[in-house]
Amino acid sequence: MTMTKPMAQRFSGRLAVVTGASSGIGAAVCHRLTDEGARVLALDVNAPRPQLAATVEFVRTDVASTEAWQRVAAVAAERGGADILVSNAATVDVAAAHETDDVSWDRQLSVNLSAAFKGVRALLPQLRPRRGNVVIVSSVHAHMGLPGRPAYAAAKGGLCALGRQLAAEYGPDLRVNSVIPGPILTPAWDWVSEADRHRSAAQTTLDRMGTPEELAACVAFLASDEASYVTGSELVVDGGWSITKDST
Ligand SMILES: NC(=O)c1ccc[n+]([C@@H]2O[C@H](COP(=O)([O-])OP(=O)(O)OC[C@H]3O[C@@H](n4cnc5c(N)ncnc54)[C@H](O)[C@@H]3O)[C@@H](O)[C@H]2O)c1
Repeated sequence: MTMTKPMAQRFSGRLAVVTGASSGIGAAVCHRLTDEGARVLALDVNAPRPQLAATVEFVRTDVASTEAWQRVAAVAAERGGADILVSNAATVDVAAAHETDDVSWDRQLSVNLSAAFKGVRALLPQLRPRRGNVVIVSSVHAHMGLPGRPAYAAAKGGLCALGRQLAAEYGPDLRVNSVIPGPILTPAWDWVSEADRHRSAAQTTLDRMGTPEELAACVAFLASDEASYVTGSELVVDGGWSITKDST
């Protein structure tokens, strides 16, 4: 007989704000945090699926907007104040640097980098007195050069630097950590061919793509008290993608 282990309640009584919550990793993070007792404000430009909508409070938000963050901070304050921010929303235009125009560059930097700064700035008055924490979802693109994503890579590298900076600036009141996902099978891969997915999977040591749930488990660890002595860190969650390269 299969027994389902009851989920720990590490976030009981806590309010988490999660961006990019309607899809992929963000949705999995929302499920994980609510399963473990958190109340979640789920932010996205797109509405969540009904199964997620039933367990979170959805606030339609463009995370690039300073005014939107002011509204989110007001909602969080009404709910008792935010304990956790998971900055996860992202957008990418695939184009070489010489084909990336100002509009595309600015939009990607706004959504992928500035939004994390704006989110922390807006929620800091709530996070600090609660000894809260921030988890930033970066990417292997922060560390590795992969053609066709100059703005995305610059933003992801900037997120890691921002995370360290914020951790140093606001410790001990605030912990700030980044996760570095490798290939995780989410709707962001819908446009990628089956052959290219296999190629990415084969480039990992574990010989497969990761699941959003595996990434969410790592975000939940960093957001939990079990990571109470972890700050300014980068947790690589890439199945060994970045440590193995074919030498032939
Ligand atoms: N999937 C991967 O292989 C992978 C690898 C490395 C890093 N990441 C990172 O993980 C995070 C989640 O990626 P995913 O694969 O789940 O992507 P996804 O495309 O499935 O989800 C991204 C979500 O962000 C939302 N979003 C986009 N712009 C927004 C805005 N301006 N305001 C609010 N919400 C906005 C989208 O609507 C979507 O719901 C991203 O930061 C991404 O860069 C993913």
